[in-house]
Amino acid sequence: DWTPAAFVAETVAQLKEQIGDQKVVMALSGGVDSTVAAMLINKAIGDRLYCIFVDNGLLRKDEFTQVLDGYKTLGLNVKGVDASHTFYKEMEGVSDPEQKRKIIGRLFIDVFVEEARLLDGVSFLGQGTIYPDVIESMSVHGPSQTIKSHHNVGGLPEKMHMKLVEPLRALFKDEVRRIGTEMGIAPIFIGRHPFPGPGLGIRVLGAVSEEKVKMLQEADAIYINLLREKGLYDQVWQAGAMLLPVQSVGVMGDERTYEYTVALRAVTSVDGMTADWAQLPYDFLAQVSNDIINRVRGVNRVVYDISSKPPATIEWE
Ligand code: XMP
Repeated sequence: DWTPAAFVAETVAQLKEQIGDQKVVMALSGGVDSTVAAMLINKAIGDRLYCIFVDNGLLRKDEFTQVLDGYKTLGLNVKGVDASHTFYKEMEGVSDPEQKRKIIGRLFIDVFVEEARLLDGVSFLGQGTIYPDVIESMSVHGPSQTIKSHHNVGGLPEKMHMKLVEPLRALFKDEVRRIGTEMGIAPIFIGRHPFPGPGLGIRVLGAVSEEKVKMLQEADAIYINLLREKGLYDQVWQAGAMLLPVQSVGVMGDERTYEYTVALRAVTSVDGMTADWAQLPYDFLAQVSNDIINRVRGVNRVVYDISSKPPATIEWE
């Protein structure tokens, strides 16, 4: 019978066998898969697992410090690397979504490879690959081929000439969550919504700047915190805000404003392949809209996305 406890015991034994007295390096994303994979490897080999968490400047508000602290509390040997300014600089003036993804993916690999190089004699690369990722990477024509390429740090193994350690390869997401819970990982980590690898880089539509990212971080934090506060967070599969490259006229006091629009998105879904827009209560939407417009400078309009997937995608880019 499959139980989380039995899986943990068996996997840790296998990992000890596979890794021996060698070292493992691994990138953490803040997501549940890489966290649970790291916890298993850490249980097997302790601090010979070196984790790296990169700030690409495109995370949610305060996420870098919060998640880094969370990892430390879990006992992981983790190094936080703030590379945000490199990312902002390289993305300057780039507005094509796929181009943005490529730049973010390439810089991430550069930063990670450089950090791994600083560690001596590491022969294994840990990854949080789960079963659906394995299936997807086998289907050449799958629609999410390019989508997932950054998330699963595709291209890394070849580039690093390392052997892979992927303890979650046979599992589905709900099983990963159960194992995480079994290992004492806090619900706040386990229940997190999916978040795209390129982060807010594809939620600031068009050209990305640090200023726009900061604006979006504020709006997104107001939205997500209110979802949590009102008990709605766990009722949707994913939620987030987009900053549109559109300015429109508004009025404040007796002055005319000409500022940006924030679009809110929330969907229900099982696996992200199809999704319905979430029917959030009107009074909730009214409050988020007020809070964002009152508190985020540079935004004078908020809209709610009522499109389902297909034909719309979850992300706007
Ligand atoms: P779409 O927008 O295709 O998104 O409906 C489906 C799911 O995939 C996520 N997504 C990404 N994840 N890198 C990722 O790691 C990406 O480039 C990327 N694009 C979309 C999206 O957030 C949703 O959960």
